[in-house]
Amino acid sequence: MEIRPRPTVGTGLGSGLRLVYVGITTKVLPQWAAFGDVLGAEVRRLGDATVLMRIDERTFSLWVETGDVEGLGFVGFEVDTDSRFDEILERVKRAGIPCEESTDLALIRECARLATFVDPAGVRQELVLRHKVLSQPFVSPHGSNFVTGEFGIGHLVFGSPADLSSFYRDVLGFGFTDSVDLQGRIITFLHCNQRHHTVAVSQGEGDLHFNHFMLQLGTLDQLGRLLDRAKAAGMDASPLGRHTNDRVISFYCPTPSGFGVELGSGGRSITGDWKPQYYSESSEWGHGH
Ligand SMILES: [Fe+2]
Repeated sequence: MEIRPRPTVGTGLGSGLRLVYVGITTKVLPQWAAFGDVLGAEVRRLGDATVLMRIDERTFSLWVETGDVEGLGFVGFEVDTDSRFDEILERVKRAGIPCEESTDLALIRECARLATFVDPAGVRQELVLRHKVLSQPFVSPHGSNFVTGEFGIGHLVFGSPADLSSFYRDVLGFGFTDSVDLQGRIITFLHCNQRHHTVAVSQGEGDLHFNHFMLQLGTLDQLGRLLDRAKAAGMDASPLGRHTNDRVISFYCPTPSGFGVELGSGGRSITGDWKPQYYSESSEWGHGH
């Protein structure tokens, strides 16, 4: 691993947004329900065409619905206050991106306010205020817990032929965390709260596509047990590894829709005096690279 210094950009802690849910469209809903059980989520049906997965006190964190394509359908980012909600919507409008507040969709997603717009990656973004917290505690069928709360539920990684990250930085106010240069393929990691990165963009990776989302287990033992369950279920899980930049120990696994999921544990968080670095390897060890 080689670490070279890079000028500090003065990131602070980002915009204070947090990723609270990921929406997926699929032709194979039953496989996703089974996959959710392997993950250790609470899985429930909503009608015939939707499966919801809960991983903390929130009403849901993964929304999987029947559709014509396999892929990422939408993502939900939460803010804490009405004024912050309005401020971010204003920034989106100033960037020339049409956006619309919907009381009907707010009811469906179980939040106080919700607005939608489409980002430059073609992903439907849902900006939400007060995503519902249930009084009954989350109980994983496998005794897992997930690191969520102020950190959000995890991260999203996109492959892109161009620089997608400027939208997240300039419009949504994400901060630059660090980058990895894999022999000319630059991966840019961005944060919006204390989580090391909530969005990463792998530039120069062919057509624009959704690469994976990540969830963080509470302990390394829970991660190991999840890897055991994934293998027992016949999933093509990668070896464990540790990433150079966020220091997370994790493995990767294809979801029923084909894109990946990263399951991790541990790692480090963004602090107020964060100084971005530049890496030439993505993994310190493992991950099969
Ligand atoms: Fe990842």
